[in-house]
Amino acid sequence: MSERTLAIIKPDAVKKDAIGDIIKMYEGAGLRPVAIRMMRMPKPTAEGFYAVHKARPFFDSLTTFMASGPVVVLVLEGKDAIKRHRDLMGATDPAKAVAGTIRKAHGTNIEYNAVHGSDSPETARFEIGYFFPEMDLVAR
Ligand code: CMP
Repeated sequence: MSERTLAIIKPDAVKKDAIGDIIKMYEGAGLRPVAIRMMRMPKPTAEGFYAVHKARPFFDSLTTFMASGPVVVLVLEGKDAIKRHRDLMGATDPAKAVAGTIRKAHGTNIEYNAVHGSDSPETARFEIGYFFPEMDLVAR
């Protein structure tokens, strides 16, 4: 089933000039961008995006990191995009990510882990709508 998922190339990966390599990995896996936006995320925007993690000890540090530099936010489309994108990203902790995954190639540690991806259809709907109005998603 064709699905859409939200991806974020995080400030650590943008700083390392890994934007092109990561988008190449999406495309290589059949995950086609249907929207792309480069932005600096204000801290309150990061706090709203990660609201489900509000009670976690790493919440302040995570949202400070996400606001620390430019990010690239994308909507990816493809067959079973949500799960296949999560498989392509690899484990949250890059130290546990397997070879061939984005976090293995570009992640630094469990917080500075290069990329984000939606974890369910409900989350994907929320996360896509958080950054993109429907009219910004192109048909491909
Ligand atoms: P992401 O997939 O964007 O979802 C939540 C983020 O919180 C996660 O990637 C990491 O960047 C961060 N995170 C998750 N667990 C931890 C942790 N134990 N310590 C610090 N940051 C974490």
